[in-house]
Amino acid sequence: MVLLACGALAFQVEAATKVKAVGEAKAVQAAGKGDAVAGRIKSESERCQECHGADGNGHGHEGLFAKLAGQYPEYIVKQIRNFRSGERKHDFMSMMAKSVDDADVADIATYFASLPAMRGDGGNDSAVGKKLFAEGDAGRNIAACASCHGAQGKGGVAGNVISPLIAGQDARYLEKQLLDWRSGERKNSTGGVMNAAAKSLTDAEIQALVHYLSGL
Ligand code: HEC
Ligand code: HEC
Repeated sequence: MVLLACGALAFQVEAATKVKAVGEAKAVQAAGKGDAVAGRIKSESERCQECHGADGNGHGHEGLFAKLAGQYPEYIVKQIRNFRSGERKHDFMSMMAKSVDDADVADIATYFASLPAMRGDGGNDSAVGKKLFAEGDAGRNIAACASCHGAQGKGGVAGNVISPLIAGQDARYLEKQLLDWRSGERKNSTGGVMNAAAKSLTDAEIQALVHYLSGL
């Protein structure tokens, strides 16, 4: 069973992490109830916009500042919590995450989520990346990315598994994340789903996926 439907997998993961799911569900509610106007002011005074952009599209640092525009607020909340606890490692973001409390994060997440969604320039299409994203490679245990991230890379929420919006995300940032999932440097996905998804990808396949996704 390679190409598990995301729903079935999400269900297994959910059963295994039921206690955690209660906490996550509360975070999701809080995220949905944030105040976007307050979040705009807080993300400016807390300097998030300095790197992630007032429009949420990041800029500078060779594209390594993630775009947050239109991202799921639940996903943003989860990442901040993970940076804070050390489940996701990044020296500077861990420091930033510790500087904001949950109420601020709910507002800030709501603000970035409310912005027009991130978009690529449409210029980097890759047929190889597109096929791998849509279908995976059953013979090599590579699940279809689309089964969780959606046919267009817009992401989705299934149970307590939040698959982020990745269409139109910056190429350099996407590449770094896929390399980190593959090496195990990043391991904060529920049930380890992303480490499993990236494990067998070759460098060339990562490049193809990144070109495809960042162009959408
Ligand atoms: C000095 C630059 C800088 C500042 C200021 C900053 N960030 Fe970040 N942020 C980064 C970088 C770099 C990453 C990518 C980390 C990595 O490579 O894993 C990141 C990643 C993130 C992510 C994860 C995005 C994803 O798609 O997984 C979130 C969410 C985030 N930042 C929110 C914030 C918030 C909220 C603030 C303000 C409280 C903030 N950041 C301030 C540089 C910054
Ligand atoms: C079983 C579901 C599932 C599959 C299959 C899957 N993903 Fe993911 N992906 C996730 C989840 C859930 C996350 C968020 C993890 C977290 O909470 O940090 C994620 C995160 C990511 C991120 C990080 C985004 C960011 O903003 O930091 C990238 C990039 C990504 N996936 C790309 C892919 C690609 C490319 C494939 C196919 C090779 C794939 N995913 C297959 C569920 C999946």
